Amino acid sequence: MRSYLSHVARPVEQPSRERREQALEAAGYNLFNIAAADVAIDLLTDSGTGTMSTDQWAAMLQGDEAYAGSRSFERFQEAVSEVTGFEHVVPVHQGRGGENVLYGALITEGEYVLNNTHFDTTRAHVANNGGHAIDCPIDAAVGGASDYPFKGNFDIATAREHVEEVGAENVSVVILTITNNSAAGQPVSVTNTREVAAFAADIDATFVIDACRFAENAFFVQERESDYADASIREIAREQLSYADAIVVSGKKDGLSNIGGFVAVADDPELFARVKQRTIMYEGFPTYGGLAGRDLDAMATGLREAVERPYLEHRIGQVRELAEKLSAAGLPVVEPVGGHAVYVKADQLLSHIPDEEFPGQALVCALYEEGGVRGVEIGSFAFPDTDRPEYVRLAVPRRTYHREHFDHVAETAAAVVERHEELTGFEIIGEPPIPELRHFSAELRPVE
Ligand SMILES: Cc1ncc(COP(=O)(O)O)c(C=O)c1O
Repeated sequence: MRSYLSHVARPVEQPSRERREQALEAAGYNLFNIAAADVAIDLLTDSGTGTMSTDQWAAMLQGDEAYAGSRSFERFQEAVSEVTGFEHVVPVHQGRGGENVLYGALITEGEYVLNNTHFDTTRAHVANNGGHAIDCPIDAAVGGASDYPFKGNFDIATAREHVEEVGAENVSVVILTITNNSAAGQPVSVTNTREVAAFAADIDATFVIDACRFAENAFFVQERESDYADASIREIAREQLSYADAIVVSGKKDGLSNIGGFVAVADDPELFARVKQRTIMYEGFPTYGGLAGRDLDAMATGLREAVERPYLEHRIGQVRELAEKLSAAGLPVVEPVGGHAVYVKADQLLSHIPDEEFPGQALVCALYEEGGVRGVEIGSFAFPDTDRPEYVRLAVPRRTYHREHFDHVAETAAAVVERHEELTGFEIIGEPPIPELRHFSAELRPVE
């Protein structure tokens, strides 16, 4: 069993209740607007918030800061090729930089994009390129009640219905998000991946895997898909990704780095040329993509660590442990537990708050007020005009928190459960012009 020693220590204080109440009000009841110094335990995201290993820090010292063709890029390219099987890669500053580069090269005005579930930045990039984002999750993903092992899967029957409606010639891209972040971080089977690839080929669409959490997904495949019980995490990851025409990865997740990402293209020199041109325009020269050489070295090392089974056992073990503690504290959590976060069914706990008054946001605010714990709403507030369940996500940064922190989160949850009937809903009082991104900066107030 693996665990990690913390040789760098940063003290964290719990701000007073009075300070938390003031901070919440000043933030317009939106936890993205709260300073990290006012947060005791930060479960807002697992993206770039983890702890790097000693090997990653050591690799950073070798950073080659040449503008073009650095040794850091060569090492990065070698790691991407070894871990994912893709030879043609451009680094980008983070996942959404890759989405801009790739989807801008693939989508034209008026086209439809099918995905098991679009992550918020993906949806925004589809819209920004004039496309229409359509989600095709399987039924089990939406309700969350069963213990189906691959709730992240893509529903091909639903996708075919959409294609019949809009015409195959208008569907340019099919995306598979592994694990499916917006569907409670649930995994996608290799069988489903193969079927989605065949479906995309059938309608002549480019098949993209959003592979931010490809290693966590491979862990679940090894655990739950009988044909892969004896395959290594590396073998599973390579096979699953091999079905894609292109992959887009945020290195801030399974690259185990604090910044970075990449786009890789399989066998389409023309697409790769377009991707490289857009990288130059938006990110930087294609051998650094908006990153320092040292960031490329950190990500290269992180990618290799992410496919080590002991790392994944610790990682997913932590998420499961937090889920058990929260469940014991009385929070209804989505099961089976996903890869990177615990998802709480806020509407089940706060059934007296209607969806239009954002029960998830009420829970998020209460967890902060009660114990300085920061999570994020991913229901009607984050995803207006979609049929998403009213979940709150408590994401676990990699190799960062310990059992004592999870105990504090559970105690906080128990205190919120205790007074849940007193909680009220929220209304929006100011929001930005891009609806897909409103939860990052909108302001709210409690409903009287
Ligand atoms: C599935 C998925 N795609 C894309 C992104 C965007 O990545 P980034 O935050 O690095 O821009 C994320 C980030 O959480 C994600 O979870």
